[in-house]
Parts: sequence; structure tokens; C-alpha cells
Amino acid sequence: MSNQSETLYLSTNLAERFAAVRQFTETLCETLRPEDCCIQSMPNSSPVRWHLAHTTWFFETFLLKTDSNYRSYDEHYEVLFNSYYNSVGEQFPRALRGMLTRPTVAEVYDYRHEVDRLVTKWFGEGQIDADQQLAKVVELGLHHEQQHQELILTDVKHMFSLNPLRPRFRAGLRPSASDSPAKCEWIHFEEGLYTIGHVGEGFAYDNEGPQHRVFLEPYALASRPVTSGEFLEFISEGGYSRPEFWLSEGWQQVQVNGWHHPLYWYEQDGRWQEFTLSGSRPVDLAAPVTHVSFFEADAFSRWAGVRLPTEAEWEVAAQDVGITGNFADTLLCSGHAIHPSSRSVDDGRLAQMFGDIWEWTASQYTAYPGYQPAPGALGEYNGKFMCNQFVLRGGSCATSSNHIRRTYRNFFAPEARWQFSGFRLAK
Ligand code: AVJ
Ligand code: FE
Repeated sequence: MSNQSETLYLSTNLAERFAAVRQFTETLCETLRPEDCCIQSMPNSSPVRWHLAHTTWFFETFLLKTDSNYRSYDEHYEVLFNSYYNSVGEQFPRALRGMLTRPTVAEVYDYRHEVDRLVTKWFGEGQIDADQQLAKVVELGLHHEQQHQELILTDVKHMFSLNPLRPRFRAGLRPSASDSPAKCEWIHFEEGLYTIGHVGEGFAYDNEGPQHRVFLEPYALASRPVTSGEFLEFISEGGYSRPEFWLSEGWQQVQVNGWHHPLYWYEQDGRWQEFTLSGSRPVDLAAPVTHVSFFEADAFSRWAGVRLPTEAEWEVAAQDVGITGNFADTLLCSGHAIHPSSRSVDDGRLAQMFGDIWEWTASQYTAYPGYQPAPGALGEYNGKFMCNQFVLRGGSCATSSNHIRRTYRNFFAPEARWQFSGFRLAK
């Protein structure tokens, strides 16, 4: 099973994967109404309509425009749906993405379908298979689209959470069965020189390489992520009101934002409830805690007398772990809610390294030794964000199963809480 996602990846050709990934975006959005697709509920999120257009813009800009005879679909879109590529040109201000009523959602779907038609035509004419460079752009465009699929889910969740009607992203999805949490054990690793980072044939983002050695002191990793039940103990012991557990910047965030609990938790009749993509429900105490910032993860660790793992410790530990778990595509296909759940595997091994929740690490998001951003505009994809962010590992219940890798480095600002972010302890 450990190579499941790799096999899927290799056994399907690029044209088929293009069709499948583009379709999955539309499948995710099929229960949303046009009204759901237009607003931006905070500066860090984007309207669904913008995600639908921006992922299309990516293929138009970096693939179709390599043909000098190609005529822009709409010149306004070049600016409107450029996220942050200065070498491509100007960008419409990010914070104003929710202020536009045009192009309409239907017009954005027309844009998607026209670009899909042209890319499919290029595949049909053999253009992409004949040119490694073009194939690489399509490959990157698909992984890019999968990142935006996850953002669509987390941005919609945030938007719906602000609405007193508490809309559901999708009705009729069952919560995954929740057991009592597995006993938490320490899994020990010996000191030594280890190799991390991506090398070889399969796709990886530029920030996953080059492969390099790291020396690790002896360490131990918790066999599973911290649960909501455990996080509740931290809350009950005054975790959010005792500065001694917090980094200075984290404590400031607690004060400024009035944090008392993870994002989406609220108290009703003395019981903790949480808002999920499938509506509100009692907090599942056995499931990994989610929607916490790096600062909350870090404060919990200090309260518990331990620490967060570094990304190298996490990756070394993941080297023998199969890439299976609760992912967006597998959950939806089996009719399950997109939400982390517990798994009580008490087999003395690492559980839930992949899927359910992204795991905050203690590592700042910086370049690996010898890192080279990709050449050209696509060099802006990852490299220029290597400041003031922390690395998260393992993928979440909103990630697609064939998107994640052991070397995958996700990154967010330490105060970000709207992703499905949790953590596991180390010592
Ligand atoms: C890696 C998730 C932080 O949200 O900007 C999307 C993903 N990169 N388009 C982000 C991404 C380009 C990125 N994160
Ligand atoms: Fe993007």
C-alpha cells in the first residue's frame, strides 16, 4: 500500500490526469450556488470564483501563451487572475478579490471550458507529449490546481462559518466513525546522518530539493497527533491565559484576536461544538485537534513539557510510513465528511502521518542547501515566500491523495488557523 499514490500517478497518462484534476475542481464546487462563489470572507482567503479562474489562468499563461499565435481569452483576466507573478505583469489587489461581480461565475466556467478545450486539443495533436517543457508545465499546473482545491474547501469553510445559517458545504456526508483515541506512545529514532528532500523522476515542487543530509540527535515522535480531548485539557488548565507557555508573538496574537479555543469551536449549553464542512456537531474528542495556529501548537507543546518536531525529524520518521489516510478524494468517494477523524491503531507505530491534518513543525520555511528556484516566472511559485512562515507536513482531509509526498513542504504564517492544521509532539 505504501506506493499507492505513486502507482496511481504513474499509471495514468498526463492527458487523463489533466481531465480528472480539472473535473475534480468542478465536482467540489457542484453544490455551491453562484452567491457562494463571489465573496471573500477575509484577506487571506479568496472567492471560489477567483480560484476557478486563477487555476485556469495558470494554464493559459504558462502553457497556451507559449504559442506566439495564441490570442488572450480576455486581456482583463491577465491582471484579474494573476495571483503574485511580477514577471508576468500587474495584479489586481488581493484584498479586493471579493469586491467584483463580473466576470460572472458562469463566465468563469466558460473561461475554464475554453482553456480545457484548447489544452485537450494540444494533447490530441501530440504537442505536449513531444515537448518535455510543456509536459512539465501541465504537471505543475495540475499540482497547482490541487493546492487550490484544498484552498477552495478551507475558504468555503471559513465563509460559511461566519454565516448564522451555518450552511453545509455538502449534505448527506457521514462523519467518519470515531473510536476512543489510540494510546499515545513515543516512537524512538537513533541519532545519525539522514537524507531528506526530493530526488528522482516523479513530480516535486522546487522547494523539496535538493536532497541533502541532516544530522539528527536522538529523538522521539508521538505515535499519533494531539487530539481535541487533549487540547481541551490545555484549555481547562488555563492554557490560553498563561503567558508562560507562549512565544511572545503568539501571546500577542492571543491578546489581539481574543483566542480561547481552536477556530470553529464554540460553547453551547456548556458543551463544546465545532463547525465543520458538514455542519455543526459536538467536538470529537478522539480526533486530531485542527484549525490551530503554529503558536497554539507550540504553546501546547510547552505546556506538555515537550516540543514540536523539526521537518527533518518528521520526514525521516515518515520514510517507512505508507501514504494512506483520510484525504479529500477518498472521503468524498466513500460518502464521508471532509473532517479529521480518529483512528485507533495501537500497533506501536506512527499513525495518521498522512491525511486528516497538516502537522505544524518547528521548522521555519527556508531554502534547503543548494536550492535553486525554477527558471523564469515559475521561479516565483515557492521561493519568494521563504520568510516568516512555518512548514507543515503530511497533508489533510482536504488534500487529494495523489497530491501529497513524504518530502512535501506546505507552509503558512504562524498565526494561520483556517487550514486543517494540527500537530504531533516530539521530544
Ligand atoms: C503552499 C498553500 C501556501 O496558498 O499560496 C497556490 C499554494 N501556490 N498557488 C498558497 C499555492 C500557488 C500556497 N501554499
Ligand atoms: Fe495559485
